[in-house]
Amino acid sequence: MMSGTKPRAACLIGWPAAHSRSPLIHHYWLRTLGIEGGYVIEAVPPDEFEGFILRLSLRGFVGANVTIPHKERALALSKPDECARAVGAANTLWFEDGELRSTNTDVEGFINNLDACAPGWDKASDALVLGAGGASRAVVFGLVERGIQRVHLANRTLERAGALAEQFGAGVLPVAWEAIPDLVPRAGLLVNTTSLGMHGQPELELDVGLLPQDAVVADLVYVPLKTPLLAAAQARGLRTADGLGMLLHQAVRGFELWFGQRPEVTSELRALIEADLTKV
Ligand code: ATR
Repeated sequence: MMSGTKPRAACLIGWPAAHSRSPLIHHYWLRTLGIEGGYVIEAVPPDEFEGFILRLSLRGFVGANVTIPHKERALALSKPDECARAVGAANTLWFEDGELRSTNTDVEGFINNLDACAPGWDKASDALVLGAGGASRAVVFGLVERGIQRVHLANRTLERAGALAEQFGAGVLPVAWEAIPDLVPRAGLLVNTTSLGMHGQPELELDVGLLPQDAVVADLVYVPLKTPLLAAAQARGLRTADGLGMLLHQAVRGFELWFGQRPEVTSELRALIEADLTKV
């Protein structure tokens, strides 16, 4: 650091103050790359969010991550890229040419994690995505952008899948939850974006034995780290991509935008966050 200049800092804005692994991730990268900088959690209630964002730079921040319940407001209060617009929510903010810009890094987090864990996964012509909430929008957009021909979207509430599919075009096909067993045999990629399998939630009931032999299974849930779905897929010898990998990969872009160096998702970082997750 040059004398007289303040180290760069970014923050995670949420409400209530969520327990987040993001500070651990960014501090690891700052430390290992030898960058003097900071990353803190800011608990900001909804009625103060706009004021906070408008003074983000004055508060000394070069950018921010945004989480529940602010992601849609963050989109409206910034100049979003195509990705954030398509997902309808922003999770990463930074300044560019004096403007507050935004993106949604869940999309690249999901895709880059798949590329790292299961290279060639995109040869699948049919993907089956379970769930049609916020996380699913990022996944579906990423798959469509990558050129997956057919994305079958199954959701307990079929209308939600229908609304999402309508936005993303003819390659996204809404299907009833009950139709899952019919689609599994042709799913080269299966993605769980629902909360099923999460600690304290019911398990996802799905027979991975019906998947094609070269299928890849991704689960966005990361508590537990190895969900029953991932465990069953691995027991069958299928390649998998887990929710922690996506979480780590989605953090890369923010760090690069704020601190000027593209960090790597190393096994050391993964082990650090895994250790923190098992503390819960
Ligand atoms: P997120 O932003 O993490 O995607 P969300 O928007 O609340 O969270 O979406 C949760 C997803 O999990 C939804 O697709 C939800 O299905 P509904 O749209 O029918 O609510 C799905 N989900 C949650 N509990 C479920 C359950 N017991 N069975 C099937 N799907 C479930």
